[in-house]
Amino acid sequence: SADYFQEPFRPGFHFTPELNWMNDPNGLTYFGGEYHLFYQHNPLGNVWGHMSWGHAVSKDMFHWEHLPIAMYEENGVMVYSGSCIIDHNNTSGFGTGDEPPMIAIYTGHSDERETQDIAYSNDRGRTWTKYGENPVIDLGKKDFRDPKVFWHPPSQKWCMVVSLAREKRLQFYASPDLKNWSLLSEFGPAGVRSKSNWECPDLFELPIENEPGHTRWVLEADMGNGAVAGGSGGEYFTGMFDGQTFRADSTDSKWVDYGRDFYAPVTYSNLPRDDGRRVWVGWMNNWSTALNPTYPWRSAMSVPRELSLRRIGDQLRLCQRPVASIESLRKEPMLISNMEIEDGDTTLSARGQQLDLMLVIDPGTARRFGVRVLKGDHEQTEIGYDMATESLSVDRTQSGNVKFHQDFSGKHAGPLGLDPNGQVRLRLLVDRCSVEVFGGEGETVLTDLIFPSASSDRIELFAEGGRATVVDGQVFQLDASMGP
Ligand code: FRU
Repeated sequence: SADYFQEPFRPGFHFTPELNWMNDPNGLTYFGGEYHLFYQHNPLGNVWGHMSWGHAVSKDMFHWEHLPIAMYEENGVMVYSGSCIIDHNNTSGFGTGDEPPMIAIYTGHSDERETQDIAYSNDRGRTWTKYGENPVIDLGKKDFRDPKVFWHPPSQKWCMVVSLAREKRLQFYASPDLKNWSLLSEFGPAGVRSKSNWECPDLFELPIENEPGHTRWVLEADMGNGAVAGGSGGEYFTGMFDGQTFRADSTDSKWVDYGRDFYAPVTYSNLPRDDGRRVWVGWMNNWSTALNPTYPWRSAMSVPRELSLRRIGDQLRLCQRPVASIESLRKEPMLISNMEIEDGDTTLSARGQQLDLMLVIDPGTARRFGVRVLKGDHEQTEIGYDMATESLSVDRTQSGNVKFHQDFSGKHAGPLGLDPNGQVRLRLLVDRCSVEVFGGEGETVLTDLIFPSASSDRIELFAEGGRATVVDGQVFQLDASMGP
């Protein structure tokens, strides 16, 4: 309805629950022309609790149709995070019709323990039956969760990566039928070794885009606290997975996102074979500051991001880019070419709170430069590049309501080298209460929530200490009403 988008901070092209609390994306799968999005959801309130799987479907990952809740908490067992696959060969035997069944593999959480459970649907995810003989994996442990399952063609088996969260250890299992699982190997602890845990792992193979014909595996896991910008965030390892063991190139990890609000990303399963894409979606929030000023809903998903690997210097880096279908939301562009930005600020004629900006900037003599968005008389969110530290940052200290939590205000930065032409490439998505900044080829990403006034919609380019040039720029407003 029209009122829906009048609610303060309701994004236009990012998924939000119609009502109440949401956290991790779950069960991302593509089937029968529909992208499915399930999510951790409290059907009873705008805070975490009574975890169930909310459900929505979309034909393009931008226009979503809300569906009834897929699975509820029952008998004191909550439905925690997990994944979905399409059982094309009916290995599980759950299929009853012409179409293969959709199977969910999730964590059953009770006060005593966490187990891996399964459920199935024979009507494209509209109704679900929990397996009568759950759990399918039970170690009698408390912190054992978030199974991600995928088909491994060389071994002709289902593989699972799942987390012993508190121990910061991942386990790999295999199964012929999704019901009987055997332990293959373990990985960790590794990566960031502060008091952090591991949740919501994912494991997938990606092409190395500047080494044609080569691939590498990526193992991603998320920590509830201790991440680079404070609070929760994700880290990743590159390496090899042979259907048995993950061998990391290094036990040092890299950060998935240098902002504060990108957590628990997971990839889609069953994307059409011929497009070969790997796409993931993350929860655009942070556990430490999750109770932000939105009502009667809380939390958005990130934009769907296409993944690849790239050799940059001597490092293999994960690159994230918004999926191409976002371009269909673009309105008329404002084009910029060879625009000089003097020491000081240049306000653009374009404005808005839903934007897609692409900028290629030549540093010239400037020490710092960048763009300020969601600018009002007393508000702005600044995306800046600093030449001395070669870093890209988001400063949200003056972004609007920053006072709702003492840890919210701040400036977050990630390392970004100049491109081979000595220029800085930026892609920026703005959607009322968020900025997603993709630096370079997408190797450095910052995702941050902001809570500006509805009237703060100006865009300003800036340079400090000299003169920079926007060699090439495109500023698009995006169609703002993507919901029901
Ligand atoms: C991560 C997480 C998962 C768990 C879910 C519960 O954000 O803690 O580990 O399955 O949220 O809602």
